[in-house]
Parts: sequence; C-alpha cells; structure tokens
Amino acid sequence: MQPSNKVERVLRQAMDTFYGPADGFQDRLTALTTVLNGLVASDVGLDARLLHSDMYQLDAEDAENFAGPSVAAAVRRRQTPVTYINVYEDRLMAASVFVLRDRARIPLHDHPHMHGLMKVLAGRIRVQSFNTQQLDCNRTRVTHVGAEKLAPVIMGPDDYTNVLRPQHGNIHQVETVDGPAAIFDLLVPPYDTCAPETGPRRCRFFKEMHTSKGLQLTVVSQHKGYWNDVAPYKGPSISLYSNQQNAI
Ligand SMILES: [Fe+2]
Repeated sequence: MQPSNKVERVLRQAMDTFYGPADGFQDRLTALTTVLNGLVASDVGLDARLLHSDMYQLDAEDAENFAGPSVAAAVRRRQTPVTYINVYEDRLMAASVFVLRDRARIPLHDHPHMHGLMKVLAGRIRVQSFNTQQLDCNRTRVTHVGAEKLAPVIMGPDDYTNVLRPQHGNIHQVETVDGPAAIFDLLVPPYDTCAPETGPRRCRFFKEMHTSKGLQLTVVSQHKGYWNDVAPYKGPSISLYSNQQNAI
C-alpha cells in the first residue's frame, strides 16, 4: 500500500534504508534523500507564523483576537529563538521540525553513532560541520576532542538534503542566513537509545577551541542564548505500523 502522505513516505523509506539488509545501503540512502528533497513546508503542516513569532507570542495573538489588544500589549519579553516540533519518534528513528527565528543558531552539538538528514523547508541556513579524530567522543569522560573543520554549507528549500554520518560531519551547528528558517530533521537512531559499548546517545554541546594541539572541540554544559519552546505537529497523521498491527 502506498503511504498516504509524504512524511509517512520519508519515514517508511528511512525504515527500509537503515533497517533493511546490509547490501544496497547506499542506493537506499540515495532513495531516502530523493524523497526528502521533495519535502516542503506544507507537507508537515508548518504554521508560517512560527517563522516570526514564538509560541508565547502566538498564544498572545490568539488571546488578543479573543479578548482584545490589552493582552498582547502586556507581552514584554525576549523572543524564544527556536521552536521544536516533534513529528514522529520511536526507538528506531526520530523526525522533527526546528523553526529558527532570524539570527537564531542551534549551537555545536553531536549525534553519537547516528545518521542525521536535514532538509530545509523555509529560509536559508548555514551548516558548519566537523569531523572528530576520536570516534568514541560520546563517552561521558571525554571533555574535548581533536577536530577537522569542514567547509560550511549554505542551504535553502531548493537544495539537496544534508546528510551527516557517524564518522563524517557528526558534530555541527546550524544558523540562519538573512532571515528565519525551518528545517526537517531525521535522526536514525534517536537520541537516548543505546549505542554499542558507549551507552545512551546523549546530545552534548561543544565550543571551538584553538590550542597548541590544533583545533579542539570542548564539551560545554550549555550555550548562552540558546533555548527552545515546543509547538504541536499539525501535519498529516502518521501510522507506520498500522498495517502490521491490523494483520495481527
Ligand atoms: Fe543536529
């Protein structure tokens, strides 16, 4: 049966790509990026107002429409830079949308033993990725790691999907270029699942350090200026396993 919507098609192809037989992985990864290349903002039900307004402001706007302008006039606060939308998550993969307001940045972070595929839905982003010299950098005791800085990539909605791999470009940061942006992000497997030998996949933040040993990425507990709120997913419903469950 054909998936009923494009998000479902992406997720089914991801399942086939990463959890199918070892042979033909590259071809199936190409098939996945091809499907992702065609994903647009309307496929995930993205509320375009989120590009300029965080959830607090949208709630205030809704309240204003309901109760008059006095509620919105009372809103005086710093805007949330990033909104996170959980599209789908199970123990095998996670799909989400990040909405970045103008000049927002998702700081340097890692994806331990994971693949990540990123498709721009709106605006433009600049992705700065790093290769690390130590493959076990997700061990909690490691606080810094030698790194190679890759050429930055600027992407918009018409550009191909960006792919990070367990051993290539696994640490990256994402920032907007000339205005707000939205990206679809697919992680396989998701954070917090268990990686062989190294334990749960925790997302850690880093900062760039130039030392006598060369470029190093040092773990930091948090990044000033980065936080996010959460918006509900308003795209089509997703039921990856419904056919199998119905057959039982
Ligand atoms: Fe990421």
